[in-house]
This record gives sequence, C-alpha cells and structure tokens, in this order.
Amino acid sequence: MKYITHSEKETIELGAQLGKQIENPVVVALFGELGSGKTVFVRGLARGLDVREKVQSPSFVIMRIYQGRLPVYHLDLYRVFSPEEIYGYEEYLYGDGVCVIEWAERIRELLPSERIEVRLKIRGEKEREIEIEWVK
Ligand SMILES: Nc1ncnc2c1ncn2[C@@H]1O[C@H](COP(=O)(O)OP(=O)(O)O)[C@@H](O)[C@H]1O
Ligand SMILES: [Mg+2]
Repeated sequence: MKYITHSEKETIELGAQLGKQIENPVVVALFGELGSGKTVFVRGLARGLDVREKVQSPSFVIMRIYQGRLPVYHLDLYRVFSPEEIYGYEEYLYGDGVCVIEWAERIRELLPSERIEVRLKIRGEKEREIEIEWVK
C-alpha cells in the first residue's frame, strides 16, 4: 500500500498503525534517502508496539534495543557498507523481536525473504510517499 503523509506527526501515526498490526517477530526493512523519515517512522512503529521510551536515532551505534509487546531491535546501517560489518548482529534478524533496519539495502543479501518493506520518498518539504509491503 502507498501512503502520502504531510507532517512528521502523520508519519508517526502511519508507523504506529503498522506497529499495532505486528504480532510476531519480523524484520522491518526501511529504504529511503537521508531525511526521508525513516527514524520518524520507527518512532511510530515502536509506539504501536507499546514501547514507551522515545526512539533516538542509533547513528553512533549500530543498534538500540527497546522493550514493548515484543523486543524492538532498531538498527541503523548508515555507516555500514558490507554485510560483514554487522557480524554478530545477524541473530537479531531471526530473533525473538521486531528487527527494524534503516538503510536495509546495505545488507540486502542477509534479509530474510519474509519481511515487511517500507520505502520512503521525499515529495516536498513536508510531503513523504511511504509504501508498505508485507513480503512473503
Ligand atoms: N511527512 C513527514 N514525515 C516524516 N518526517 C518529516 C515529514 N515532513 C517533514 N519531516 C522531517 O523530515 C525529517 C526526517 O528525519 P529522519 O526521520 O531522521 O530521516 P531519516 O531517518 O530517513 O534520515 C525530520 O526532520 C522531520 O521533521
Ligand atoms: Mg534515521
């Protein structure tokens, strides 16, 4: 499904809607350029999974963990350029929680075939196109 949001708040709400639908461990692979709203979307997603803490961009670490209805593993691979660099983190891709990955294209070959893909595009200063696809 494709959506257009017109504010950070709308993107958070869209993320929360997705989060509420998640019942089992899964990988959520996020694709989209810098500033497209990946981290904002994750904030909503975490809220929909009943995480109370505010999600911060992991930027200087690869991963942050939040506790909600399920554990939420938030990875940001902005500084990762090959799958070998996330050695040790693969277990989170097949783990007990929701593994949300910004810059998922950096480890495309490691992504499980069953996953949720979220593709974000900048359409204007406040306009974002967000496509959500459950891939089986
Ligand atoms: N519709 C929108 N959805 C999400 N973010 C938006 C929107 N409009 C403007 N923004 C702004 O765009 C930026 C998105 O930042 P961020 O989520 O950190 O992007 P990314 O993680 O993709 O680099 C934020 O400054 C946010 O306020
Ligand atoms: Mg980000």
